[in-house]
Amino acid sequence: MAPKVKILSNYFGIDQAWTYDFYTGHGGYETAKKVLVEKQPDEVTAEVKASGLRGRGGAGFPAGMKWSFLAKPEGVPRYLTVNADESEPGTFKDRAILEWDPHMLIEGILIASYALGVHQAFVYIRGEFHLPEVHLSQAVEEAYAKGVIGEKCLGTDYKLDIVVHRGAGAYICGEETALLESLEGKRGYPRLKPPFPAVSGLFGCPTIINNVETIANVPWILANGGAAYAALGTEKSPGTRLFSISGHVNKPGVYEEELGIPLMTLINENGGGVRGGKKLKAVIPGGSSTPVLTPTECETITMDYEALAAAGTMFGSAGIIVMDEDTSMVEVIVNLLHFYAHESCGQCSPCREGTGWLHRTMKQLLKGQGTADDVEKILDIANQMEGRTVCPLAAAATMPTRSYLTKFRSEFEALLPKLAGV
Ligand SMILES: Cc1cc2nc3c(=O)[nH]c(=O)nc-3n(C[C@H](O)[C@H](O)[C@H](O)COP(=O)(O)O)c2cc1C
Ligand code: SF4
Repeated sequence: MAPKVKILSNYFGIDQAWTYDFYTGHGGYETAKKVLVEKQPDEVTAEVKASGLRGRGGAGFPAGMKWSFLAKPEGVPRYLTVNADESEPGTFKDRAILEWDPHMLIEGILIASYALGVHQAFVYIRGEFHLPEVHLSQAVEEAYAKGVIGEKCLGTDYKLDIVVHRGAGAYICGEETALLESLEGKRGYPRLKPPFPAVSGLFGCPTIINNVETIANVPWILANGGAAYAALGTEKSPGTRLFSISGHVNKPGVYEEELGIPLMTLINENGGGVRGGKKLKAVIPGGSSTPVLTPTECETITMDYEALAAAGTMFGSAGIIVMDEDTSMVEVIVNLLHFYAHESCGQCSPCREGTGWLHRTMKQLLKGQGTADDVEKILDIANQMEGRTVCPLAAAATMPTRSYLTKFRSEFEALLPKLAGV
């Protein structure tokens, strides 16, 4: 068997891996040095395009293509913003990069900024992330002190500043335009698109927003070539991914694997199988916003964008939540709906009212106080919410709701009072 390729997680769990000395002692910043001296910015973007790297924040948009959309009006600054908000339930992989290998992210920011002609980058980090923020901020300070970033990056004429900005605990600030509003000092309300941030983003200037994991892949791609990255994974879903595995497994954790790996391999081999030898009941494949899978679906599915879409779900943030046979699917969805109702920013009424209504109706049903038409009512509310809001948070609540109701309908119906005469 070919040896397993690790791009991102080589130094996870190693003491001091977050320091400049450790990073440079293992070849760190060598790639950035070469890139800044030997490559033109467009060549860097071309390499990332050739790699086929897709955004790891959720939507899976090709990174190189996004970079090529960045508007470049004369005399207007452009920005790179790294999304380190990581609040999707079941997802905890960016945290591992920030905590264990923040210099890898800084090297990625440096190379990406150079490619984009950016001289000011931001990392918007989840407010609750204490240790990751401490390690990242220390790494940024070290990078300034060692001349990696600042007025003359790595001894060249290229200038780059990096600011680490802490969020304040709002899930919606992970949505890219809400993040920009928050970074500008305003309330985190998502913006209508278009215009897209690549045209009008932070302070009205062209801005690229990428997830932590997306940017952390960039040094490896430039060191090994886009073709080497594209050779990993599957044709349309290249590379490796950090899978967060949680729930009822023996060994929850963050595991790096090539895309296209069977879901059951991740659960049984990486995750050590279902806890207590119990039977599998359901799996959330890509964070709480993605529709749930049944055991039969899990048996054959592979973890790539195409296979998951074909099964009516999504890769999302690759946060896999495993549920065993004792799990009440009604309790799970009540819990998730509580989250979405709480995190709705309240800007649009279908989401503000709808998420609350879904949560309340489902909670009543769980308590055995529902009415006979509750399942239909919930599906109707979900239909009314979708496609009528500024951002996809409403759909993030309705899509899983519909999947739980459809795939585990009898569990919900068992809690309903019987219709008279039926
Ligand atoms: C409600 C909501 C929450 C989101 N939260 C995150 C997040 O925590 N981290 C993230 O990288 N992307 C998050 N996203 C996706 C971002 O809007 C954006 O697509 C992503 O940061 C782009 O980076 P990528 O192309 O590298 O994936 C969220 C989207 C929505 C709608
Ligand atoms: S869909 Fe929800 S979270 Fe998104 S902008 Fe509207 S109210 Fe806010």
